Amino acid sequence: MATVLAAIVLSPTVRAHARFDVSDLAPPGFSLKYAEATHPRTSTKYSQKGHYVQKIHGLHGRTNGKSAAAVLGSHQRLTGAGFGYQNITSANAYGTQYATEVRFNGHPMYMLVDTGSADTWAVQSDFDCVDYAGESVPRVSCQFGPTYPDSFQYGALDPAQHMFIRYGDGEVVAGPMGYSDVTLGNITVTKQEVCLANTTYWYGNNMTTGVLGLAFPVLTNAYIGSGLDHSSGARIEYSPVFTSMVSQGKVPPVFSIAIDRNSSSGMLAFGGVAPASGMDTSRVAELDMLIINLNNRREASSEFSFYTIIPDGWEYDQVTNSRKYPYIVDSGTTLNYLPTKIAIAINQAFSPPAVYLWSYGAFFTQCNAIAPRVGVVLDGITFWLNPKDLIYHDWADPETSLCMTAIADGGYGPYILGDAFMQSAVVVYDVGEAQMRFIPRPYY
Ligand SMILES: *[C@@H]1O[C@H](CO)[C@@H](O)[C@H](O)[C@H]1NC(C)=O
Ligand SMILES: *[C@@H]1O[C@H](CO)[C@@H](O)[C@H](O)[C@H]1NC(C)=O
Ligand SMILES: *[C@@H]1O[C@H](CO)[C@@H](O)[C@H](O)[C@H]1NC(C)=O
Ligand SMILES: *[C@@H]1O[C@H](CO)[C@@H](O)[C@H](O)[C@H]1NC(C)=O
Ligand SMILES: *[C@@H]1O[C@H](CO)[C@@H](O)[C@H](O)[C@H]1NC(C)=O
Repeated sequence: MATVLAAIVLSPTVRAHARFDVSDLAPPGFSLKYAEATHPRTSTKYSQKGHYVQKIHGLHGRTNGKSAAAVLGSHQRLTGAGFGYQNITSANAYGTQYATEVRFNGHPMYMLVDTGSADTWAVQSDFDCVDYAGESVPRVSCQFGPTYPDSFQYGALDPAQHMFIRYGDGEVVAGPMGYSDVTLGNITVTKQEVCLANTTYWYGNNMTTGVLGLAFPVLTNAYIGSGLDHSSGARIEYSPVFTSMVSQGKVPPVFSIAIDRNSSSGMLAFGGVAPASGMDTSRVAELDMLIINLNNRREASSEFSFYTIIPDGWEYDQVTNSRKYPYIVDSGTTLNYLPTKIAIAINQAFSPPAVYLWSYGAFFTQCNAIAPRVGVVLDGITFWLNPKDLIYHDWADPETSLCMTAIADGGYGPYILGDAFMQSAVVVYDVGEAQMRFIPRPYY
């Protein structure tokens, strides 16, 4: 299924970005800082090796809002400035999941694509499915797809290490760490540290076997020993899959995601830019990458860190709002979450105006309403959202027959540019250059 396509080379533009003090822009309970470049940009790198593209598939049906950004954000929104975690159900989480094919030692599996965590793991066939209290329950309750049938290709780590991770919605995964070749697209990362999970508290989708974590090494969750010590003193940072792919010289330190409107699928490309339809490569927005972190991490609490940017502002209904706020760019969240004032103003610009329905925590308008022209301004370029993405026909309220809009109130933050934005752009995560680039995919 994985194919290699020719690279699309983006001509480099040398543009200095003024950096401003971002410390005051973080939502309560979070910290914000610029990511540091580790590789200079060398445009020729893109064309030499080609890049590696594979399809990602949107998963329909129930979603438990696994997206860490969605979970953190919704908690902030519900409780104001406090933080912590809560279970999210399909009724109020607008999370989307994307899966892609990953091979361990040549064995193909579907894994969830997660830019908010760094560990890559597959569940082994002999695993213990547990409930919230840690009691064993039938394996089918964890709703995995096919389990990984083998042991580690190159054996377990010696001395032993184990992974222990608690995701934002409370799911827990643990198991031994070992080495395996990991193949993504047409690239094989050799002798990668991975986990074969043997204990999971998990709400699966009957399709995926594990998670592909695309975040930074600082977010890995391996600990010394095989036992129960997951204290920070026992933690041993390791190189996650994408970092290894780069350090093994397989690809330049960049990946990209293109989500296709109306097909619930998309492209994930390593080392270059996904060849998405309708790209306008003559205008590419370049923004410094920021990292947003949860402060005051509690022991055994989840660790999150997100690819974050600060847009120039929003344009809607002849209005330009250029107040600066950090936004997490998250394909795992369906809607866009904006500061309250802007969210209300945009929702009032629908014809007829959208109303806030408390039971959903979202805005609703007539399903055939006329959406205003809404765009987010990135690096001087306005990314107009397709009006079709602004009214969500899949979420009609049965009582009022109104449809949900894609502009939600993000409260104290963190604010999120979700799928309703990502469908208008190809998003390039240039980790090496500590930059995010956005290529418009105009709809008109
Ligand atoms: C995968 O890469 C190898 C060499 O790196 C190449 O020979 C092969 O044609 C590629 N496969 C596909 C499907 O493009
Ligand atoms: C989360 O869900 C589990 C199982 O449905 C439940 O037992 C637990 O109390 C919930 N936790 C919170 C914080 O709501
Ligand atoms: C899981 O693997 C660890 C080794 O990391 C082992 O100590 C533990 O007993 C295993 N648990 C189960 C339920 O198999
Ligand atoms: C997975 O399959 C089980 C058993 O067939 C079913 O009860 C469950 O609803 C399915 N889960 C999803 C997310 O489709
Ligand atoms: C999706 O495609 C269908 C038919 O292929 C079309 O009727 C519909 O308008 C499209 N929806 C969006 C949001 O583009």
